[in-house]
Amino acid sequence: MSDSKVVLQDSKSGQAHELPVHQGTYGAPVIDITSLNKQTGYFTYDPGFVSTASCKSDITYLDGNEGELMYRGYPIEQLAEKCNFLEVCYLLLHGELPNVGEKESFENSIVTHTLINESLLNFFKGFHYDAHPMAMMTGVVGSLSAFYHDSLDIQNPQHRMETAHRLIAKMPTIAAAAYKHRMGEPFMYPQNHLNYCGNFLHMMYARPVEEYEVDPMAEKALDILFILHADHEQNASTSTVRLAGSSDANPYAAIAAGIACLWGAAHGGANEAVLKMLDEIGDVKNIEKYLAKAKDKTDSFRLMGFGHRVYKNFDPRAKIIKTICHQVLEKYGDDPRMELAMRLEEIALKDEYFIERKLYPNVDFYSGIIYSALKFPVEMFTVMFAIARTAGWISHWIEMIADPSKKIGRPRQLYTGPASRNVPDISQRG
Ligand code: SDX
Repeated sequence: MSDSKVVLQDSKSGQAHELPVHQGTYGAPVIDITSLNKQTGYFTYDPGFVSTASCKSDITYLDGNEGELMYRGYPIEQLAEKCNFLEVCYLLLHGELPNVGEKESFENSIVTHTLINESLLNFFKGFHYDAHPMAMMTGVVGSLSAFYHDSLDIQNPQHRMETAHRLIAKMPTIAAAAYKHRMGEPFMYPQNHLNYCGNFLHMMYARPVEEYEVDPMAEKALDILFILHADHEQNASTSTVRLAGSSDANPYAAIAAGIACLWGAAHGGANEAVLKMLDEIGDVKNIEKYLAKAKDKTDSFRLMGFGHRVYKNFDPRAKIIKTICHQVLEKYGDDPRMELAMRLEEIALKDEYFIERKLYPNVDFYSGIIYSALKFPVEMFTVMFAIARTAGWISHWIEMIADPSKKIGRPRQLYTGPASRNVPDISQRG
């Protein structure tokens, strides 16, 4: 990182404090405030980390103004076109795309971990049939820490990589088991002759009583969606995994924390919220009414699938997903919600409120329409996001744990509570 410096002039003390500035490969330079408190006695204040870099990372970069996204330097558009999801998992984990031999041994390792411990299947029986699958994912993935707690030395690089392979391999199996539990259908075991997405579709939709053939288009669409959702630098759920993992917690528990955070409607839960919003809007003639609600500060309604903390241009993933939407709907039959979504996008992007705030469709705006066409119930949409994002989460966890300068994450605060006071006797309390 090339360094320069800034000078902080303290008007109170009259003192000037020099702070180093680091410049990464791309992106805004950062003011290094690690010595700020020692030098000046000040903390910084940045709720939501709007202007704060929490770490340095080699994994993913996104340019919010240009609407560009790259994993380990490769543009997302090229990865979506030329790679499959497991190649991208390898890239995120190792920093380079696999060659033929590396790809084969990575795939072989993943398939050896697709089964889950038989006793884990009993966990699902503890949930009501209508439990939200993200609740089941959070609980069951967190419970994996009970199965591997003793065979896991997080300071051992081989143990870290084996954990990554286990999680990437088991997420589809656990997700499909959650779906089968909701459907009251028998759990389907992985078929390791199938590829990653085909195996997942088989576990989701096959039944013991009939043949099931994986649809190549569904498999390809899913593989691209998983690539697009695999990582996104320091988003809320990845930051959650880093913070939870910074205490040297079991990585399965840290990933479960990421799943819990992703579930929020402001984050990965938005894909489910978009479909529910489109169903609520119902017809093009209601768009203006709902845009008015979205702009009304007294109304909690927001245009789900729109806006982003970093992208102030089109989310490049949304552009690719929109194209896949048209291809998928051409094969599986139209969905009136696609027309509604496109009209909503068209009208919103001409509206001053959205233009002024640079609010564009994000990754969640169209993805649900594809998942619907592939017969996934709306409650499973965020689970799909979690399957894909596990690759990013565990790559960031490894990057953090392997960093010799790692410190436990422990933010400070601006205390605005009561000044010191004595405890009154209960008879004196008002
Ligand atoms: C994901 O971080 C990542 O990388 C996330 C993600 C990933 O891959 O990990 O990309 C995945 O989470 C995508 C985002 C999915 N969420 C949604 O689609 C929910 C709807 N979007 C909003 O909730 C919002 O846009 C956020 C949460 C995504 C971003 O919120 P910010 O950055 O905190 O922005 P903000 O709330 O400060 O909004 C700035 C202004 C505000 O208006 P003013 O106070 O300036 O008048 O824009 C308005 C907001 O009210 N605004 C919206 C809006 N999003 C922002 N108004 C109406 N509808 C919206 N969707």
